[in-house]
Amino acid sequence: MRVFVKLLGLIIFTLTLMGCSEQPITIKFSHVTADSTPKGQGALKFKELAEQKFPGRVEIQIFPNSQLFDDEQGMDALLLGDIHFLAPSLSKFDRYTKKLQVYDLPFLFNDSDAVIKFQNSPSGVLLLDAMREKGLQGLAYWLNGMKQLSTNRPQLQKPEDVEGLKFRIQESDVLQAQFRALDANPQKMAFSEVYQALQTGVVDGQENTWSNIYTQKYHEVQDVIAETNHGIILYMVITNATWWDGLPEDIRTGLADAMAQATDYANKLSNEINLRDRGQIEAAGRARIQTLTPQDITAWRSAMAPVWQEYESEIGKDLIDAALSANN
Ligand code: LMR
Repeated sequence: MRVFVKLLGLIIFTLTLMGCSEQPITIKFSHVTADSTPKGQGALKFKELAEQKFPGRVEIQIFPNSQLFDDEQGMDALLLGDIHFLAPSLSKFDRYTKKLQVYDLPFLFNDSDAVIKFQNSPSGVLLLDAMREKGLQGLAYWLNGMKQLSTNRPQLQKPEDVEGLKFRIQESDVLQAQFRALDANPQKMAFSEVYQALQTGVVDGQENTWSNIYTQKYHEVQDVIAETNHGIILYMVITNATWWDGLPEDIRTGLADAMAQATDYANKLSNEINLRDRGQIEAAGRARIQTLTPQDITAWRSAMAPVWQEYESEIGKDLIDAALSANN
């Protein structure tokens, strides 16, 4: 009996030790925006849900505000295994796939509902796997919202108002073509450098969502923001495909589930956050918000239209048509 009790004690002791020595899986999620933006909120929600599912087994560390990397460096770090999640805007995947460029076509989507409809459609879902052979696995789309245009000039209503001006753009050839079609000068630049570039006049203007404009304080160094809604900022949450496939099955399934819930949460919040930040910009009273008439919008739309023909063969007409049908 005594031998049995001793043996039992030994087994319990060993099991306890094994339990204690199991290190949690630490997952680093790096991104470039503020915590209060749609992406920031999505990342925090994912952390909360994943850690709730796996207490003591999974720890999610969030690094917002380009603290660790900008998106370009972040993709390299992800492939090297230094970080595990990143959520770049789809405009930044040029070097991995040409297909995602569809999302950059100006005036493609009427509103954010159409974006969500397309991303959840069979064509949208298929694009999550478009970069697998390059080592990147897409897990979800997170929406920020519609892009607005701002400059340091008093007037911004018609396409002619941007002629000759320098604009910061994300790492995207379609966006470069968009500004060239307007006879403006696009400059690719990391998100973390934009405020200073606007402040010092290295560039005259930029395009982004209300939440990014507000949290990055662009409205303090720009004179006018035109409500063009000419494009979107949409993210793909990506991970390193090899790392992801190598996770224990239960963890991978649980994380995918937490990601799906966080996605739903962030996408539902995105509109509200952008409206809130539009209000904050208005209340700050620094940059003027220029609303546009349907005639103005038609003029912007036709000035940017040549980009569509330029990129149709690279992106594929089928994909463009599938995206367009989400507007119906
Ligand atoms: C940008 O670079 O302007 C955006 O992609 C930033 C972001 O992640 O919303």
